Amino acid sequence: MRTYMKLMLLLIIAAGLIAGCQSADKQSEKPAEQLDAMSLDSETVLARNASKRLVMSFTNRLKGELMAAIAAHEPAGAIGVCKEVAPAIADSTSTDGWIVRRVTDKFRNPDNRATLAELEIMARFNDSTAPRFVEHWEKTDSTNTYYYYEPIRVGALCLNCHGELQTLAPGVMQAVRKQYPSDKATGYQVGDLRGMFVVTADWPEAEGLARELVNDSL
Ligand code: HEC
Repeated sequence: MRTYMKLMLLLIIAAGLIAGCQSADKQSEKPAEQLDAMSLDSETVLARNASKRLVMSFTNRLKGELMAAIAAHEPAGAIGVCKEVAPAIADSTSTDGWIVRRVTDKFRNPDNRATLAELEIMARFNDSTAPRFVEHWEKTDSTNTYYYYEPIRVGALCLNCHGELQTLAPGVMQAVRKQYPSDKATGYQVGDLRGMFVVTADWPEAEGLARELVNDSL
């Protein structure tokens, strides 16, 4: 029994680690919500697939850094990694007409505060019939921008740094208080909506990288 419990615990920890600083939405297999008539055209499909690639690459890079940091310094030290690395990954993923951000209502870093329009979209990920992602185009006379939104949910590992204050890993609370005096990102439970990825692509500038990303994955 004891061995079994240990094994379960290890599995839970491993599952959390695999999610890294981000967690993919595994809850719903529903198709995307389609917000306008263009949703099935080839440009939309290209932009959507490239957005998924960028989100996956962001998540995997952050996960790798976080796992290494936790192995080396425990969660309190890994706070520094999320602080340095997450914005750096966001910057390096945002290139060639693309911008990748993480936004939320209860933010740790005020730079990640969702706008009112983003909060409305985030609310749609909050119920049991939530779509896997939301997308739309915004067109003006001079711009043509694709928007892609994907929910970020809380896994077991996240509770180390985003859980109830009294259950936070030792040292984490002090480290967070010091580096993020206005932190709001605690009190979460497994499965909660933590925030969302917002990917924007200025078309046609963004098309080149989109093709590279999508071809690379074939
Ligand atoms: C080692 C501590 C730690 C762990 C574990 C951790 N985070 Fe974070 N998280 C942070 C820190 C620090 C920031 C602020 C990063 C910054 O300054 O941009 C952050 C920021 C975020 C943000 C951006 C929004 C905001 O509040 O600024 C999201 C979304 C997020 N984390 C989700 C998660 C998820 C989901 C997990 C679990 C899979 C997770 N985090 C695990 C420390 C952690």
